[in-house]
Amino acid sequence: MPALSLVAPAAQDFEVRPLAGAVGAEIIGLDLSQPLNEADFARVHRAHLDYHVVVFRDQRITPQQQIDFSRRFGVLQIHVLKQFLLAGHPEILIVSNIVENGQPVGLGDAGKYWHSDLSYKELPSLGSMLHAQELPSEGGDTLFADLHKAWDTLPTELREAVRGRSAVHSYTARYSEGKNAANWRPKLTDEQLAQVVTVTHPVVRTHPENGRQALFVSEGFTTHIVGLPADESRDLLDQLYAHSVRPEHVYRHQWQARDLVFWDNRSLIHLAAGCPDHLRRKLYRTTIQGDAPF
Ligand code: OGA
Ligand code: MN
Repeated sequence: MPALSLVAPAAQDFEVRPLAGAVGAEIIGLDLSQPLNEADFARVHRAHLDYHVVVFRDQRITPQQQIDFSRRFGVLQIHVLKQFLLAGHPEILIVSNIVENGQPVGLGDAGKYWHSDLSYKELPSLGSMLHAQELPSEGGDTLFADLHKAWDTLPTELREAVRGRSAVHSYTARYSEGKNAANWRPKLTDEQLAQVVTVTHPVVRTHPENGRQALFVSEGFTTHIVGLPADESRDLLDQLYAHSVRPEHVYRHQWQARDLVFWDNRSLIHLAAGCPDHLRRKLYRTTIQGDAPF
């Protein structure tokens, strides 16, 4: 163990480069294996709030370093699927399609529907980080849609229809759909089920740090809008989903070796595009707890 030091970490020379698409920025030249000083951390924090998804290139970091960096943004959430937590590091959820000795090594179906991580909890996630461990030679992209833009450009009738309304979110909304080798979700124990009771959140939330409004519904976890007949709720949600993921709101991340991607679950929804089953893909996820949406 290095001796405790009172000297602040050295400043690093790095660049924040906005991506060409709807949202996102690349951070080049920052080494997350070193602790960040306050000024560097503040720049990274600002970039996360401004661009909603930041891509740190070429990070040679250990699981513990990913955890330490993640903790600077808040409390880490431990996923309900205990069998996919990294041994010795329960703060890391293994996201992978790899099956070894007949057993999946990680969560294979981490997001084949658009979603915001842990929106089915009272305290959904502020943001999540994925660090690439093994990448397929084709496919495996992750898509991000900007729900601030979606709200800002929503047609007036839809805005009026959802203003002030709440929606129910459930972990098991899509749970039983599409079971196959690549999209494997284990049966939940009674104890796990008790941890994922449904919750209600506003359909439009205010981001607690940037003050902007964003839609907060997604096909992955939202089941219905409170106080509407089922068919009206379905119809309205479908219109909101279609608008949310219009191409001008979406960034497609094509992974590069050792990328660490950190997105804001209060501003975006995301989707795993998937890759062919026989190509190995493995990433480590940390998930930071956020506030109760308002
Ligand atoms: C996640 C997730 C998408 C992907 O880990 O939260 O949605 O492309 N992953 O693996
Ligand atoms: Mn996810």
